[in-house]
Amino acid sequence: MKSLDFLGDIAGDLAKVEEHLKETVSSRDPLLNQASLHPLEAGGKRLRPAMLLMAGRLFDYDLETLKPLAAGAELMHMATLVHDDVIDNSSLRRGRPTVNAAWSSKVAVLVGDYLFASAVASIASRYSSEVVRILADLVVEICHGEMLQTRHGYDLDLTEDGYLQRIQEKTASFFGVCTRLGALLCGASPEQVDALRRYGDSVGIAFQMADDLLDILGSAAETGKPVAGGDMRSGVYTLPLLYALKHSPRADRLREILSGDADDSAIGEALEIIKASGGVDYTRRQAIRYVDEAKAALTVVPESRGRKALEGLADFVVSRTW
Ligand code: IPE
Ligand code: IPE
Ligand code: MG
Ligand code: MG
Repeated sequence: MKSLDFLGDIAGDLAKVEEHLKETVSSRDPLLNQASLHPLEAGGKRLRPAMLLMAGRLFDYDLETLKPLAAGAELMHMATLVHDDVIDNSSLRRGRPTVNAAWSSKVAVLVGDYLFASAVASIASRYSSEVVRILADLVVEICHGEMLQTRHGYDLDLTEDGYLQRIQEKTASFFGVCTRLGALLCGASPEQVDALRRYGDSVGIAFQMADDLLDILGSAAETGKPVAGGDMRSGVYTLPLLYALKHSPRADRLREILSGDADDSAIGEALEIIKASGGVDYTRRQAIRYVDEAKAALTVVPESRGRKALEGLADFVVSRTW
């Protein structure tokens, strides 16, 4: 397990969430059981449940109140990943073959639905309809983000605003919901709940920008995902590439590569053009700007160990290599 130092005193509580996760997923159908446990046991950073607990910890924290919701949030996240890998036709996740690669897309669609429904059933029996509604709205927003991505697949004219809207919807909204719910259930005031949501959204934007950089710069051994231009190959144009299309002296060649049937060497050349364009530095600077915004949102609560931990998490999302 790689280091998540910022977790500090919630590491033990997160281990309890982990036990709850396994219980919620177990199925009487052997294949469903095995295929659902597969991504769960592969690990993952567990950032969403961590953020939910960490936000709660700023207020009147109670693990028993938050635990099933934190587990449910991770299961919903896993459901989106299992379906995302079908959509992206991806073969590696969390260092293991994806469910679609290890079994089939059919099994992956069912596993994603199963994980999602198990999470909702577990949450609906314990929390208010407001909480269930917030989570349902979240899934709607993630679908909008994924649809936007599909609609703008291979779109050389995608704008930076279009990119930002997509990553807000498909990724940041989830982080914002986790910190919002953690605060809401632990007695934060409406202003504090809103500030925690803004913190989560900003961390989420920075997180997805870092993910998009890892797709260009990272190694599969570290990320546990296929990288080296995978997004570009599948028509998902991210900020470093959009920057290069606008600012690189070799933008015409880049357009030519992207418009043709690019082989590995052409993708390698495109990655070189992006790196030389300053697109990587630009994206990193933008990500850091969102980290700063996230930290600024935290000033609604007094300085404390809990607030320090959330500041540490914000720094982690842009320095991570997995
Ligand atoms: C992956 O999320 C999906 C994105 C939003 C980029 P994570 O990077 O949090 O995935 P795990 O849970 O650690 O595998
Ligand atoms: C994640 O986006 C979006 C989800 C809502 C799951 P990516 O497609 O960039 O995530 P990875 O790179 O496959 O983890
Ligand atoms: Mg993907
Ligand atoms: Mg990615």
